[in-house]
Amino acid sequence: MCGIIGVVGNSPVTPRLLESLKRLEYRGYDSAGVASLENGRLDRRRAAGKIKALEEVLEADSLPGQVGIGHTRWATHGAPTTRNAHPHRAGPVAVVHNGIIENFAELKAELIAAGRRFESDTDTEVIAHLIAAELGTGLDPAAAFKATLDRLEGAFALAVLIEGEEDLMLGARRGSPLVLGYGEGEMFLGSDALAVGPFTRKIAYLDEGDWVVLHHASAQVFDATGRPVKRAIVEVSASAALVEKGNYRHFMEKEIHDQPEGCQHTIAAYVDPLASVAAIPGGLDLASFERIQVVACGTSYIAGILGKYLIEQLADLPVDVEIASEFRYRSPAVRAGTLAIAMSQSGETADTLAAFRLCKARGMTLAAVVNAQGSTIAREADVVWPIHCGVEIGVASTKAFTAQVSLLTALAIAIAKARGTIDAKEEQRLVKALLEAPRLIGEAIGLEDAVRKVAVEIAKARDVLYLGRGPMSALALEGALKLKEISYIHAEGYAAGELKHGPIALVDEATPIIILAPFDSYYEKSASNMSEVMARGGPVVFITDPEGAKHAPAGARVVMTAPPCDPLIAPLVMSAPIQLLAYHVAVLKGADVDQPRNLAKSVTVE
Ligand code: AGP
Repeated sequence: MCGIIGVVGNSPVTPRLLESLKRLEYRGYDSAGVASLENGRLDRRRAAGKIKALEEVLEADSLPGQVGIGHTRWATHGAPTTRNAHPHRAGPVAVVHNGIIENFAELKAELIAAGRRFESDTDTEVIAHLIAAELGTGLDPAAAFKATLDRLEGAFALAVLIEGEEDLMLGARRGSPLVLGYGEGEMFLGSDALAVGPFTRKIAYLDEGDWVVLHHASAQVFDATGRPVKRAIVEVSASAALVEKGNYRHFMEKEIHDQPEGCQHTIAAYVDPLASVAAIPGGLDLASFERIQVVACGTSYIAGILGKYLIEQLADLPVDVEIASEFRYRSPAVRAGTLAIAMSQSGETADTLAAFRLCKARGMTLAAVVNAQGSTIAREADVVWPIHCGVEIGVASTKAFTAQVSLLTALAIAIAKARGTIDAKEEQRLVKALLEAPRLIGEAIGLEDAVRKVAVEIAKARDVLYLGRGPMSALALEGALKLKEISYIHAEGYAAGELKHGPIALVDEATPIIILAPFDSYYEKSASNMSEVMARGGPVVFITDPEGAKHAPAGARVVMTAPPCDPLIAPLVMSAPIQLLAYHVAVLKGADVDQPRNLAKSVTVE
């Protein structure tokens, strides 16, 4: 939920911290701050609001030094004010933190009773005071830090400076990601590869419980027991280190347009295009499972629902898809013999991780479908299936969604072949259809001008309904989620067959209804639903394909025609218009498309 950066450097640190924080802003943007050491003196600057506010503070009152830490915040404890902005300080200690300290209240009471004075409402400030108190007993910085870590309960990624120690930085990770960056005579700490990307591509992912002592020329990693350990140094790709908007106004716009390429990379990793067969890496015997259990949140959960439709239809294998925050607490009747699939773009979503760990505890085989390959969920899986769509910055997920669905489509084909529910000929036909997806997604993006026009009307609405049947019912959920999370217009996605069981009461002139209906086996029913809502004055936007447009009931306000495609990839092709619709409505409403209010890209707290 927050982004942290630390630099033990040889050049002015503030510009470097700001550059990194701008890359981390997608993780949270309620407030930001930096601290540095200059001739041993510790100082800090903070500001409520986005990085820009902090830049203005620094323009007016610069911060010298070559060693520093920075933080961009998504508020958990304490309002998003300057007073609650990180870095938090207690005497000679400054700390930045991503996560939640669950026992902070008792620790705070203990420290106050010992005479320490707090200035913020945050849990994080407790950490600074604990380290300062341990230093006060005569412990050296590393020992004081370790003693503090042993007192903390909850999740944290930390970077800490100590006044007077210009060749030292302390870091730790438990439940929130942290990477170590290796420079030339410099060392870095960051929430992810992107954070340290401007400085180095040589990184090491810290493990759960690791803590680290950094100097300019070295870093010593320790495990939770205090034993020195080595963590592999890897070279991350340029894309992970360098993400720009190019000629687009927003990352989301760029990521929507990147989907043909993104899905191409995904599909290429899971099919053999020459032999036209599905080829799922990881060595699992896909015919050996009695069930599949998908756990995920948000858009990733919706991708999982699409996976269910495809795998059950093609492979006749039961698939349960559950919202992770429900699954993890409800004592599910699940057991071994099941393949558990965690769907997570970030690979750090706390609820999905917890649900995944419950699946492990129940003896399931774990597969992680992630974009961030070094993420916690990936590192706890038996098999990792990366979606290879490149770093996704926009908080509203688009290219990761279609990449997830592309992967699940290839997986459905592979499972069906392994279980013998399709023969080699059908497998080839389906793989060929999947290989068409990138081109057809590109054609569907060509609907953008028509979408822009529809967006003008939708932007005026207070409520919007999305309807679909079969896989399109899942896409209706996704269309509604996209619209509400970036334009702040209330929207609901419904299975069109459910309309008469309540939602039709919502239909009136002022409530646009977006109906998703390619000319497939569900089409006739969807067309009837369309007539039902139009008979009640509901303004319908009908998104279909050329055959569906030909048979569409008269009266729709707009009929948008996506390119014709095999039903197998209709969810992929129909995603583009609903993503573009949400995007253009949000732009018309002047919303903050890449960083919608109250949201963050990775929900690493419960
Ligand atoms: C999607 O547009 C949202 N930003 C959100 O629902 C997201 O999909 C969800 O938080 C899950 O994130 P993950 O894929 O990183 O686990």
